[in-house]
Amino acid sequence: MIPSPWTRRLVVAASLWALLALRAAVAGSAQTAAPPGADSTVWSGVYSAEQAKRGEASANRSCAKCHNADLTGGQDGPSLVGRETLDAWSTLTLGELFDRIKTTMPADAPQTLSAQETADILAYVLSLNRCPPGEKDLPSDAAALGRVRITSHPDPRQDVCEARSSDERSRSNIPAP
Ligand code: HEC
Repeated sequence: MIPSPWTRRLVVAASLWALLALRAAVAGSAQTAAPPGADSTVWSGVYSAEQAKRGEASANRSCAKCHNADLTGGQDGPSLVGRETLDAWSTLTLGELFDRIKTTMPADAPQTLSAQETADILAYVLSLNRCPPGEKDLPSDAAALGRVRITSHPDPRQDVCEARSSDERSRSNIPAP
């Protein structure tokens, strides 16, 4: 449907991936110790489980019809979950993703989400991507979110998407394809 920007982003992500993985490995312990929001990554526990829960309700209302119930992508919208998605986003901060969602989504009614709803949905997207929750909510302003970088999964052996779908299947008894 929209091949060229996607392809470009994937190429950029692929070339940066090795560097990011290395940086994440080197900086891993320091990031865990940093307070939420202070130059952290999506792997530092930057949202709360309660916030993700609120975001799930909003996403079901506003996003699922195009991006699918678990936001893994459907006919009308790309996946927001999984290794490829995170790789493609790994040049961004959460602030940039927040702005993107806030200004362009839902595609059929842009700019109808409040800042709080957008932050909650972002928390839900992080939970779907297996980023660990922490104590505090994600802030709902782009400047603070700009200090949180999106990086690929710190453990290259773990496929965030696979883990989620097999859990989902066993919980809801959907047979494996
Ligand atoms: C009417 C269908 C539709 C709805 C509803 C919708 N989206 Fe989208 N979304 C799209 C389409 C189509 C694209 C791809 C084109 C684009 O990037 O603008 C997209 C792209 C995106 C992207 C960028 C993906 C990437 O990798 O670049 C994000 C993030 C996103 N949507 C989040 C959301 C969220 C969050 C909601 C709910 C608040 C939502 N969308 C609701 C259709 C929709």
